[in-house]
Amino acid sequence: MRSTSAPLLLIPGPTPVPQRVLEALARPTESHSSSVTASALQRLQEGVTQAVGGQSSAGPAPMVLVLGGSGTLALECGIVNLVAPGEKLLVVSHGLFGERYAAVGRAIGADVEVVECPWGEQVPPEQVEAALISSKAKVMTATHVDTATGVVSPFRDYARIADHLGVTMVLDAVATVGGMSVDMAENRIDVVVTASQKALGMPPGLAILAVSQRALETRRRLSGCRSYFLDWLNWEATMGDSAGRYFATIPTNMIIAGKAAVDIAIEEGWENRFRRHRRMARSARRGLRAIGLNPLAQDAVLGATVTATGVPEGVTPSDLRLEVAKDGVAIAGAIGKWAPLGVRFGHMGAVDLPDLLQGVAAVEAALARLGAPVERGAGVAELVAGWGDELPD
Ligand SMILES: Cc1ncc(COP(=O)(O)O)c(C=O)c1O
Repeated sequence: MRSTSAPLLLIPGPTPVPQRVLEALARPTESHSSSVTASALQRLQEGVTQAVGGQSSAGPAPMVLVLGGSGTLALECGIVNLVAPGEKLLVVSHGLFGERYAAVGRAIGADVEVVECPWGEQVPPEQVEAALISSKAKVMTATHVDTATGVVSPFRDYARIADHLGVTMVLDAVATVGGMSVDMAENRIDVVVTASQKALGMPPGLAILAVSQRALETRRRLSGCRSYFLDWLNWEATMGDSAGRYFATIPTNMIIAGKAAVDIAIEEGWENRFRRHRRMARSARRGLRAIGLNPLAQDAVLGATVTATGVPEGVTPSDLRLEVAKDGVAIAGAIGKWAPLGVRFGHMGAVDLPDLLQGVAAVEAALARLGAPVERGAGVAELVAGWGDELPD
């Protein structure tokens, strides 16, 4: 169950945190080298490995790094271990967070080349292949779902191309891990980066990376990592046995809370969880459309965790957000160059059908108060009708 005193967070992160996770967070602080912390970290790592499909039956498990920080730190950690200053990095960008990855690349001194598309679209795999060949980059990044637009990339195709060309691929799955499958091992993705506060249903505070053994080998061949704190080799022993090997203090309360969130996800089952996210996406979009909030991108390219929509004529995005907040529901504004166009909804993590019902009802009531032409009850009716449908993964 979610904490009841908080506003309902239907934003693309942070997402609602179940009461059980909050209670774990509030327990007295453990030592970073205690056995309680070590076993919580291990369970959290196992959960993340399952969530990303990190281990095939034959292959080795990835190293799961859990650091104090946000998704942006995870992005940085993902490439600073693989690209030396002056070396090429190809960034595949289909939105704001691709642009951010390019900025992170430049900040660590990489020679960044960007292959991009208009917001709301996907970068065709052929374009990625051509850019990899012409740039001769040995490392590339791509975003799974760009949270600014809700668009999902054809990252499986990118991964196949990268694998074929011997390129190391880092996937920004900050907006999806725990809500959509990534199948890291099957797709031979080298590094998956994420954060605690989105589809994993944990509070903000953890930067999380699943690093394949192949990527670790690439790190070992790099002539030094230009970050001390983010160096995988500094963390390797601690992440394998936090009770026995100190590198730096790990965020123990958050790790114990993270374990509780992973327990909840494992009880639900990862496949069931992914299916719930697909159902939420489909039904939320039907409900929102019925009250005049149309997704800004085509259905065919939308992922399952976020929806960016326009607003009805005569209503501004900020007025709508403020009006919806009066009923205890938080929705987000659109961001980046889409900021003037509308609002964004997160439907991930612990969010479920009752939350969406409350959210769509609140938006509908807010629109009516703002004088927009809405048919009362239409959004909720469509939402319920859409609940049985599924989106392809
Ligand atoms: C796809 C994606 N990548 C990276 C980030 C950055 O994460 P953070 O805000 O936790 O630094 C976000 C945040 O929304 C995101 O959605």
